[in-house]
Amino acid sequence: MIKTAILTISDKGSKGERTDITGPSIKKLLNQDIFLVEFYKIIPDEIDIIEKELIILSDELNFELILTNGGTGFSQRDVTPEATERVITKKVPGIAEAMRLNSLKITPKAMLSRAISGIRNNTLIVNLPGSPKAATENLEFIMDALPHGIEILNGTASECARK
Ligand code: MTE
Repeated sequence: MIKTAILTISDKGSKGERTDITGPSIKKLLNQDIFLVEFYKIIPDEIDIIEKELIILSDELNFELILTNGGTGFSQRDVTPEATERVITKKVPGIAEAMRLNSLKITPKAMLSRAISGIRNNTLIVNLPGSPKAATENLEFIMDALPHGIEILNGTASECARK
């Protein structure tokens, strides 16, 4: 089981002015035999708060996977990729590339997501866009590949076989 955290990043959601549909939609989409969602929280679009939360979830609570949603667009308040960049120790560009490549087949607006992915020590962090539709579409494109990457990261699987 992959110890998973869902972090919704939304000013309105954090103030109770909007019901978060995206966080629960992400949880529903994840295969419960593989992903154990043990944490869910809504925080505002504040770079220092996002950074701190990502560090606590990785370093203190030892989550293997953090799925953020929201704050990846062009609004002045959107800073999720910048907060993620601050905390990751390795970039994983392929995950965000796969999300945008596949999402562009659905809508040209997919290019407006600035989502990134990366590793902080033993934790994989993936940014998803904020709307329930965008977040679940993006997650669907990547979720089957995540367990293998996380197994390699935590040492329970060996590298991909070489021919
Ligand atoms: N990706 C998919 N698959 N489907 C979508 O509807 N919406 C896009 C994009 N990615 C979308 C998508 C839009 S309209 C925006 S503005 C960006 O994600 C960023 O979303 P965010 O600011 O809510 O994080």
